[in-house]
Amino acid sequence: MSVLPFQAVPNGPLLRARGVTIEYPAGDAIVRATHDVSFDVWRGDRFVLLGPSGCGKSTLLKAVGGFIAPCAGSLELDGRAIAGPGRDRIVVFQEFDQLAPWKTVRQNVMFPLLAGKTPKREAEARALHWIEKVGLSRFVDAYPHTLSGGMKARVAIARALAMQPEILLMDEPFAALDALTRRRMHEELQVLWDEVRFTMLFVTHSIEEALVVGSRILLLSPHPGRVRAEINSHQFGLHSAGGAEFQAAAERIHGLLFGAEAAVPQRARAVRS
Ligand SMILES: Nc1ncnc2c1ncn2[C@@H]1O[C@H](COP(=O)(O)OP(=O)(O)O)[C@@H](O)[C@H]1O
Ligand SMILES: [Mg+2]
Repeated sequence: MSVLPFQAVPNGPLLRARGVTIEYPAGDAIVRATHDVSFDVWRGDRFVLLGPSGCGKSTLLKAVGGFIAPCAGSLELDGRAIAGPGRDRIVVFQEFDQLAPWKTVRQNVMFPLLAGKTPKREAEARALHWIEKVGLSRFVDAYPHTLSGGMKARVAIARALAMQPEILLMDEPFAALDALTRRRMHEELQVLWDEVRFTMLFVTHSIEEALVVGSRILLLSPHPGRVRAEINSHQFGLHSAGGAEFQAAAERIHGLLFGAEAAVPQRARAVRS
């Protein structure tokens, strides 16, 4: 009798959210920000949380960051429950004023590495590597106030990636940029991802941005935030933006979020593209 070859159990998702309900105290009352939200993020995913303002996107991202805890459900990173903030999850916010104004680009990127006890020489080498990757080598000694919004965004991304997180958490990182700069950032993010294949959880309220940036999109509706549907979008990117298929996908998502289908969550939830 032959022995069956040993088969490794396939690795599970990097991030597993199950039935996540999050509430905030609001005076005597309670605001339910998300209700029973489940999703999986696999390594290398560009996973987007998409929905209108108030659907709990930032709340979910903060919970993945470990800054707030769900009141029901579970969040696991690589099979371990998320119990607090950690260096394996780095957040990039919309406010690039998260850069320290009194530090240069190089010092800003080095700072969290040094805080994490990375030796100075290694921190500097890693910082310069990532500053180069985002095209800012000429600006290593510049201070944030001398940089454009797009350049600050790139510093924030370099700083996050230099930390080599398991997952990069981005909360509407380009929302404050003008349309042309935002488009440029989408291109650069795509180039970086093609090269590094990092895992990203990206929050936006823009259907077009979700299609351009994401490989998978979780559609959320507000009050409280619930899952409407999950969509594959890896076939779309900047190259297809504006094309007929892209427009059709955008309209379909709009319908799922706001149209008649949105009133029938059970049916919409089963939809996969
Ligand atoms: N700190 C807070 N205290 C009370 N309610 C909050 C707090 N933060 C968010 N909320 C409420 O939770 C819901 C989801 O908010 P949020 O996660 O910021 O949504 P989004 O990022 O999708 O716009 C909203 O109804 C919002 O008013
Ligand atoms: Mg938000």
